[in-house]
Amino acid sequence: MPLVTSTEMFKKAYEGGYAIGAFNVNNMEIVQGITEAAKEVNSPLILQVSAGARKYAKHVYLMKLIEAAIEDTDLPICVHLDHGDSFDICKSCIDGGFTSVMIDGSKYSFEENIELTKKVVDYAHARGVVVEGELGKLAGIEDDVNVSDEDAQFTNPAEVEEFVTRTGVDSLAIAIGTSHGAFKFKGTPRLRFDILEEVSKRLPNFPIVLHGASSVIPEYVEMINANGGNMPGAQGVPEDMLRQAARMAVCKINIDSDLRLAMTGTIRKYFAENPEHFDPRQYLSPARANIKELVKHKIVHVLGSNDKI
Ligand code: G3H
Ligand code: 13P
Ligand code: ZN
Repeated sequence: MPLVTSTEMFKKAYEGGYAIGAFNVNNMEIVQGITEAAKEVNSPLILQVSAGARKYAKHVYLMKLIEAAIEDTDLPICVHLDHGDSFDICKSCIDGGFTSVMIDGSKYSFEENIELTKKVVDYAHARGVVVEGELGKLAGIEDDVNVSDEDAQFTNPAEVEEFVTRTGVDSLAIAIGTSHGAFKFKGTPRLRFDILEEVSKRLPNFPIVLHGASSVIPEYVEMINANGGNMPGAQGVPEDMLRQAARMAVCKINIDSDLRLAMTGTIRKYFAENPEHFDPRQYLSPARANIKELVKHKIVHVLGSNDKI
């Protein structure tokens, strides 16, 4: 099976009231954990690569790992650039074989965001690649950009039709109260489902993307804290809210922090129990196994994309 775009995945997800998981990948164990999980429960996948991941692992290594996963599992996989912040990085990923890119112009003015996004769309569509744009601004940390809660902005539904029409994007990330990282809410978690509802009325049958959608699974936060870590107050998006979003117009749900927590918690626990071990295969094996369990849980109990191939 060759790499695919997200077009068909989103069409079926929209109609079926479920969402596709977009999981961030940085190394072999993460790619294997995610793809083995999806294989077991028969789910399509989006594997996404950030600028930081490309810097860490190099484009070619991640691409070859994903190609190996496709050969191994025969799953429909879309490979996506997460938070591209310039035309150049989008072009480099398109030229380097990605089937989907995000151009995140959310830090620019509305007009500048449209101009940049359209430039990427024109280049991508001419080469069969799909594009995700973003309107509104999430709080939290991405790479070296830290958006404070005060600077975060909900998406204005009145702007979405003009943005989508003028840019030609294939999907749209919106800000409804989620944020990146492991500290998402100070008090009770709250998402603006009214904004999502209004956006979907204005963009019928159009796939919406939810970033910052890790649930910050307490089991892994506790595993980190019980084994020398220090993450008091970590809090994510409750799973029932994600399920509700997936039943609505949200077709892509981005998950990275939960993978990081599962990996780090497992490795911390492993070393606490086996302080004399030093073979990376010994501690990376349970880390990969827990990533697999986590992703299966997400697919079956949160996203609903199991048995959709
Ligand atoms: O939204 C950001 C993703 O979690 C990727 O994070 O830029 O540190 O790789 P990163
Ligand atoms: P989390 O930090 O909630 O996992 O969000 C990931 C994300 O949005 C990647 O683009
Ligand atoms: Zn994101």
